[in-house]
Amino acid sequence: MRMFVSGRRVKRWQFFQLFATCFILSFMVFWGPLENSIVNHMKSYSYRYLINSYDFVNDSLSLKHSSEQSHYPYLINHKEKCQAQDVLLLLFVKTAPENYDRRSIIRKTWGNEKYVQSQLNANIKTLFALGTPGPLKGELQNKLIREDRVYNDIIQQDFVDSFYNLTLKLLLQFSWANTFCPHAKFLMTADDDIFIHMPNLIDYLQDLEQIGVRDFWIGRVHRGAPPIRDKSSKYYVSPNVYQWPAYPDYTAGAAYVISGDVASKVYEASQTLNSSLYIDDVFMGLCANKMGIVPQEHVFFSGEGKAPYHPCIYEKMMTSHGHVQDLQDLWKEATDAKVKNTSKGFFGQIYCRLVKIVLLCRLTYRDTYPCRAAFA
Ligand SMILES: *[C@@H]1O[C@H](CO)[C@@H](O)[C@H](O)[C@H]1NC(C)=O
Ligand SMILES: *[C@@H]1O[C@H](CO)[C@@H](O)[C@H](O)[C@H]1NC(C)=O
Ligand SMILES: *[C@@H]1O[C@H](CO)[C@@H](O)[C@H](O)[C@H]1NC(C)=O
Ligand SMILES: *[C@@H]1O[C@H](CO)[C@@H](O)[C@H](O)[C@H]1NC(C)=O
Repeated sequence: MRMFVSGRRVKRWQFFQLFATCFILSFMVFWGPLENSIVNHMKSYSYRYLINSYDFVNDSLSLKHSSEQSHYPYLINHKEKCQAQDVLLLLFVKTAPENYDRRSIIRKTWGNEKYVQSQLNANIKTLFALGTPGPLKGELQNKLIREDRVYNDIIQQDFVDSFYNLTLKLLLQFSWANTFCPHAKFLMTADDDIFIHMPNLIDYLQDLEQIGVRDFWIGRVHRGAPPIRDKSSKYYVSPNVYQWPAYPDYTAGAAYVISGDVASKVYEASQTLNSSLYIDDVFMGLCANKMGIVPQEHVFFSGEGKAPYHPCIYEKMMTSHGHVQDLQDLWKEATDAKVKNTSKGFFGQIYCRLVKIVLLCRLTYRDTYPCRAAFA
């Protein structure tokens, strides 16, 4: 009798399993088109674990001759910017010709070389990387030239500044770094709508410099991300350009940091790969992959979302995405000396741990810092 019952249980369990499998399969088949991105992710994750080398990518995207790589002449340049200086961080801000206001706030906040020099005792060089306003350069180009005369911090090459030319902007940054600033200890590239907690970042980089870190590449890591095959998406990539179901791991282009040796290796690789893949951070990932460099995740580099506003967060944050209007206020608050006092002492630490758990470990997904950042 007992045997019989447990036998029936097993059958029921098997039936349930079969049913569940069918359900999931039908979900994947029928809802596939709707939930394309989820399915894509599942496929790419399984793919990721089947292979762990992307040599074939390297081979098929390689140019026959490195002279085939696009080179555009500089329209605005500052060759002397890095000269004869001990540069801790070469900071590129990817900006567009019309974003004068954003550049202006960045110059007053996290991009301010003088602040970093006087308050943090480190040398950084900030450069705004740009293409041209369009085939008819006109008034906007003249404004840029005037802006640069005042601040001396723009580098511009003669390609049209557009979303689909972002990889050209990446090549601009890496070739500038390689030619005019090969001795920078670290290189960072950032969007112009990002917040960077410079005091925290400089602290961190100074420690790394002390130990002579190499092969260093950090940011928000995208693992096994699939190319988007939906033609209506701005990130659409045709199989002609990239035929495999997953990209090698790469860091989100909004902000990442690499060490000087990685910058020169990536530059070298960038001269040998077909740059028609216009998603710049993916292209950077392909270059790094070719040189055998892997990215590391830093939990306080944000994803698409804004970090929560709280002193317990400011104490640790590195970057936060999507700040334009509130950048100046956030800078003032987050770099205030009071911030460090919030988490001081036994009770301060417990308080901040709790606050971070409440702010970061929510059930509704917000793409800022992961829950585990609360325990970092
Ligand atoms: C990229 O820049 C090149 C050179 O200026 C230009 O010919 C091309 O149209 C641009 N592409 C896009 C998509 O804007
Ligand atoms: C780069 O790849 C694209 C798309 O596959 C192709 O059309 C183009 O000819 C390639 N460029 C070079 C220089 O090989
Ligand atoms: C990439 O390909 C080139 C030539 O196609 C080869 O020399 C190089 O070793 C490859 N790199 C890796 C990491 O496989
Ligand atoms: C922070 O704490 C220090 C001592 O630990 C104290 O001297 C300082 O006044 C505090 N700052 C503020 C703004 O509360």
